[in-house]
Amino acid sequence: MATVHIESKKEDIAKVVLMPGDPKRSEYIAKNFLKDYKLVNNVRGMTAYTGYYKDRLVTIFPSGMGCPSMGIYSYELFKDYDVDVIIRIGSCGAYDKKLALNDVILVKGSYSESDYANELDGIKDKLVFSDGSLNNIIESTAKNNNIKIVKGNIYCADAFYEKEYDYNVRCKEKEVLGIEMETFALFNNAWKFKKKATALLTVSDLFFSDEKLSSLEREKKLNDMITLALESSLKL
Ligand code: HPA
Repeated sequence: MATVHIESKKEDIAKVVLMPGDPKRSEYIAKNFLKDYKLVNNVRGMTAYTGYYKDRLVTIFPSGMGCPSMGIYSYELFKDYDVDVIIRIGSCGAYDKKLALNDVILVKGSYSESDYANELDGIKDKLVFSDGSLNNIIESTAKNNNIKIVKGNIYCADAFYEKEYDYNVRCKEKEVLGIEMETFALFNNAWKFKKKATALLTVSDLFFSDEKLSSLEREKKLNDMITLALESSLKL
């Protein structure tokens, strides 16, 4: 079987999928964390891998950037590949001054002005929530593995290059910790298909400082978040 955007056989996609944004990152995770992994998709260079983390079969499938791309892949994975759980593992910019580079956010709600949910299913809500039971598992796994996480809402933007705005005002008014570009599509698709989804985001840049992670640092520092997602998958 195949869909418009995925060439995998149905049995080659696991019930639990971890979604980084970058296809290079799915390769990094497979090579460094999985056993007996194989490439299961390469359409448009969206390299997805399925393999074992300890005794758990997982698929690492890249989402690409933005709601339209995340929307396509998570839709087809939930609907056509019978995936039960998707955990986005990505990066975000931080608005809230209590955050520092490399902090890991567990996303409770995703706020967006995007029209994705309306186009998907006539949904007008601007705030959509991740799955509470999944978040409980991730929170207890984080505690057991000594990984610090911050739980809160995130702003999901359509335009990376936005007109000037006051991030402090957005942070307070929308009650969001920071900004990324994919959770709103993922959570709405999960709602539509009655599946489970959440997101872990590593802070890669700060709006209140010029400190930044290099792309190499970014890759390496993501290990805490990847470990947390994979360890949590053992309990699903
Ligand atoms: N904006 C949108 N998405 C992001 C950012 C940002 O500043 N940083 C990481 N993902």
